[in-house]
Amino acid sequence: MGNYVKVDEWNIIEDGLHLGNNKIYESIMSIGNGKMGLRGNFEEDFSGDSLKGTYIAGIYYPDKTRVGWWKNGYPEYFAKVINATDFIGIKVKLNETNLDLSKLKVSEFKRILNMKEGYLTRSFIVEDNSNYKYKVEVKRFLSMVKTELAAISYSITPLDNDCEIIFNPYLNGDVQNEDSNYDEKFWDEVDRSVDNISSHLSLKTKKLDFVVTTAMNYSVYIDDTPVKLISELQNHEKYVGNNLLVKAKRQSTVTLFKYISVVTNRYYKKEELVDKAYSIISEAKHIGFEKLLNESSCKWVKIWNNSDIIIEGDPSAQQAIRFNIFQLNQTYTGDDSRLNIGPKGFTGEKYGGSTYWDTEAYCIPFYLSTREEYIAKNLLIYRYNQLEKAKENAAKLGLKGALYPMVTMNGEECHNEWEITFEEIHRNAAISFAIYNYVRYTGDEAYLSEYGLDVLVETSRFWASRANYNKFKDKYMILGVTGPNEYENNVNNNWYTNTMASWNIRYTMEAINIVKEKFSNKYEDLKKKLNLNEEEINLWKDITNKMYFPYSKELDVFLQQDGYLDKEQILVKNLDPKNLPLNQHWSWDRILRSCFIKQADVLQGLYFLNDEFDYSVKKHNFDFYEPRTVHESSLSPCIHSIIAAEIGYEDKAYELYLRTARLDLDNYNNDTDDGLHITSMAGTWMSIVHGFGGLRIKNGKLSLKPFIPKAWNKYSFKIVFRESLIKVSVSTSILTIEHQVGTKFSLIINDKDITLNENETLTINL
Ligand code: BGC
Repeated sequence: MGNYVKVDEWNIIEDGLHLGNNKIYESIMSIGNGKMGLRGNFEEDFSGDSLKGTYIAGIYYPDKTRVGWWKNGYPEYFAKVINATDFIGIKVKLNETNLDLSKLKVSEFKRILNMKEGYLTRSFIVEDNSNYKYKVEVKRFLSMVKTELAAISYSITPLDNDCEIIFNPYLNGDVQNEDSNYDEKFWDEVDRSVDNISSHLSLKTKKLDFVVTTAMNYSVYIDDTPVKLISELQNHEKYVGNNLLVKAKRQSTVTLFKYISVVTNRYYKKEELVDKAYSIISEAKHIGFEKLLNESSCKWVKIWNNSDIIIEGDPSAQQAIRFNIFQLNQTYTGDDSRLNIGPKGFTGEKYGGSTYWDTEAYCIPFYLSTREEYIAKNLLIYRYNQLEKAKENAAKLGLKGALYPMVTMNGEECHNEWEITFEEIHRNAAISFAIYNYVRYTGDEAYLSEYGLDVLVETSRFWASRANYNKFKDKYMILGVTGPNEYENNVNNNWYTNTMASWNIRYTMEAINIVKEKFSNKYEDLKKKLNLNEEEINLWKDITNKMYFPYSKELDVFLQQDGYLDKEQILVKNLDPKNLPLNQHWSWDRILRSCFIKQADVLQGLYFLNDEFDYSVKKHNFDFYEPRTVHESSLSPCIHSIIAAEIGYEDKAYELYLRTARLDLDNYNNDTDDGLHITSMAGTWMSIVHGFGGLRIKNGKLSLKPFIPKAWNKYSFKIVFRESLIKVSVSTSILTIEHQVGTKFSLIINDKDITLNENETLTINL
C-alpha cells in the first residue's frame, strides 16, 4: 500500500518514472469507452515489466478448462476477455537510438489520466545514446462518441540537435493472453494490407467466430505544417506497419497522429468490416485529433454533470471517488444489452469472463441513480436473454427452473470450482433482486410483463427444487451451499441464501399479481407461456412460510449457517496482523475451519432487504459479524459501511469506506497490477450515496437521511430519480436539496414527507 499517485481532484498523476511498479500504473491509467479498453501501456517499445492489454467488449475466447480433478458438470471452458491486436504501438528511433524507457536516461516523467475529459497523457525528457535530449509528449483517447475509434498524438522535440527520427506506427496481432490456460495464442489472421498511409489487420478467434478488423492511418506534422513522407512498409503475419523517417530541426516539434478503428462482426457483416474500418479512420483523419478529442470530452462533461460527487475538505477522497466513477463509466455505457461489466473491466485479464453477481448486487444501483434508465435496463435484459442457458444449466444439475452461472460471457457457466459452480447459488437471487430494485426505482412495472416475470418464475422454480422439506422440523432447508462468504463451503442453510431464496419466491408471487392486475392483456399469454399454476404457487407459499432461517436465541443474531457457532470464536482484532490477508498466509482448510468471514454475508441480506429488518436487528448482527469479517473481497467493506452508517456508527462507516475508496489508487490489496476492481468501485459510490447519504427507496419514494463524515467539510451528489434530477449537498450544519430538473415530486427526508416543486431548493439545519 502506498502513495502511488499525486493527489489531484481531477487527474491521476504519476510523477516520475516508477519502473518497478509499472504494472500498477498501467492498470490505474487504463482508458475505455464501453466498447474497448486499454491498459496504460507505453506506445513505444518497453522492455521493462508490463502487461500489454487491449480488450474489446464482448469478444472472448473459450479457453479449455484446466482443473486437477474433473467433476461431472464442470464447464468445458472458461471464457476469457481476450487480449486483442495491439494498436497503440509506435516504435521510435532517435538518431538510431531505440526509444525504450527502461533502457534510457529519462527525466521529468509524468503520466496523467485526465478524468474530466477522458484522455491519457505522458511527457518526459529522454536522452539518446549520444546524450542528446528530446522532449516527448503523448496523448491518447478512445472516443466516447465514435466508439470504434482511438487516436494518439505523439510529439517529439529535439532539444539539443537536428536529428533523424524514425516513427514506426504499427498494428500487432501476434498477442497472447497472460492467463491463457495452455499457453495458446487465441487468434488466426484473416487478412491484412498496408500502403503508404494506411493499413489493416483482420483476425479471427481460433474458436467461436469473432472477427476483429483493426485499421490505422497516420499524419505527420513538423510544428504546424503537414509533411508528406514515403514510408517503408512492414507486412508480415499478423503485423503491419509503416517506417517513417523524419528529419527534424533542433527545437522543432514533430508530431505523429495515429488514428485507429476497431470493428467487429458483432456489429457488422464480416465482408463489411474492412471497408468500415477504413472509412472510420479516413473520416477521423479528416476531422483531426483535437476536434475528435473535444467531441469525446463533451460527452464526458455530460456524464459528469449527473454522476459527479463533490467532496470538499478532502482532496484525496475527491480524487478517489472521481476515479471510481470514471472507471465505471468507461467500462459500461449501456447501449448494448449483450455486454456486461467484468470485475476487472478492460484493465486486466483476471476473473476471465465478464459477468458475475457483482453486476446486479453492486453496479446496477450506480447506473440507476446516475445515468439514463435504459442503461440499467439493458443490464437486466442481458440476463433475460440468457434465461434459456440458465434453464439448461439447472437441468444439467438435475434441477428445475433456471440457475444463472457464477461467471459467464454468453449465459453458459464458466466457473469450475465445485464449491462455487454448483453451490454458490445465491447469485440467482441477486439477479431477481436487481429486477425488483429497477422496478421500485424507476416505477417501470411494465418491465415485469415484458421481461422480468420470466426470470422471476424460473429462478423461483429453481429455489423450489433446490430446497428440501424436512418433515421432522416442518421446515424447508437449502443444503450444501456456499454463501457470499467464500471462506465457508458446502454449508447447510446459509442464512443469506435461504433468506434471499425465500424473498425471490415471495417477490415472484407479488410480481405475478402486479402483472395480472396492471397488465392483464399480457397476463394470459404469460400464464400460458410460463405454465403458471395453482399447485406450484401453493408449493411456493408453503416454502416461504416454512423456510428455515438459522438463528441464535442466546446472541440474538442470525446465524451465517448451521453450526457457525461450533467454530472457535476469535475476533479479527485479536489475530496477529501478520496472518492477514488470510488467503495469502493460511492453508485453505484452516480458513474453512475458522470463524473468519471473507465478505458481507448476513449483512449483505440486511442491506438488500433493508425494510424487512429493524434497527436493533441490524445493530446486533453488525456488532457480531463486523469483528469477524476480514474483508478479503473488495466487495465487502462497502456493505458493512452502509449498515454501519444506518445504525449510527458514523466513524466506523467512514473507516470502512476508506478501505474501498482508494483500493486501487493506493494498491491496498497489493493486486492492482492485475487490473482494477471495477465492480467494487460501484460499492464505493454506494458507501457515499446509500451510506452517508442514506438513500433508500420507500414505497416508491426517494428517501434520504444524510450525515457528513468528520473529515469532510461538505459533499454533494446528484440523483436521477424517475423524471427528476436532484442535487443533495451536505455540510456540517446544513442539508440542501435542489430539485434541478423535473416537475413537482415528493420525497422523504429524515423520515419526513416533503414535496419539492420544479427548481425548488430546500435547506434543513442538521
Ligand atoms: C468474491 C465474489 C465476486 C468475485 C468477483 C470474489 O472474490 O468473493 O463475491 O463475485 O470475487 O468479483
